Amino acid sequence: MFTLAQETEEDWWEVEALYDLCFAPGREALSSYRLRDGVARVAGMSLVARDAQNILAGAIRYWPVRIGASEALLLGPVAVHPTHQGEGLGGLLIEESLAKGSGQGWERVMLVGDAPYYKRFGFEKLADVIMPPPTNPDRVLGRELVPGAWDGISGTVQSFADAAPSP
Ligand SMILES: CC(C)(COP(=O)(O)OP(=O)(O)OC[C@H]1O[C@@H](n2cnc3c(N)ncnc32)[C@H](O)[C@@H]1OP(=O)(O)O)[C@@H](O)C(=O)NCCC(=O)NCCS
Repeated sequence: MFTLAQETEEDWWEVEALYDLCFAPGREALSSYRLRDGVARVAGMSLVARDAQNILAGAIRYWPVRIGASEALLLGPVAVHPTHQGEGLGGLLIEESLAKGSGQGWERVMLVGDAPYYKRFGFEKLADVIMPPPTNPDRVLGRELVPGAWDGISGTVQSFADAAPSP
């Protein structure tokens, strides 16, 4: 019913319009957006889903971030058009994109979101990972892409643009 493809430059503004529709006004004021400023998204994992009429039904994007010397994926935004919510497309976008990330060697993924939704995909609270304020710590969630990948990782999430390079 849906066709998934990597997001292209031609898709960019259509995806932005979908996010504007699905999120509250002012979404770009969130601290997670500051982690994206001036950093290219992870193109190989950022996906669009189109329906049989080729209309955009959902999208997911990823950015790289650092916590100390460790790299992680920042999942989001993910959104599904209101006419297609509850059909499993959000889950499909999350799982298909993370499978690509694992294949590209990424070890861990984090996001800021609703635990009741994301726990079904194996996301748990990251008690030792701090998002820039204002962020509710209970919404900082992570999932391992390889076993133990979040063990011992603590500190403030930094932009790839600002963080010192890995040793
Ligand atoms: C969140 C979102 C991406 C889920 O996409 P979706 O395709 O509707 O989700 P799925 O079909 O995979 O899953 C639907 C289930 O998730 C539940 N769900 C959806 N959003 C939820 C939330 N914020 N909290 C808890 N559960 C939620 C639904 O109740 C449904 O439950 P059920 O399976 O028990 O009936 C979509 O609702 C959306 O775009 N919302 C607005 C934007 C947003 O909040 N994005 C996420 C934050 S980055």
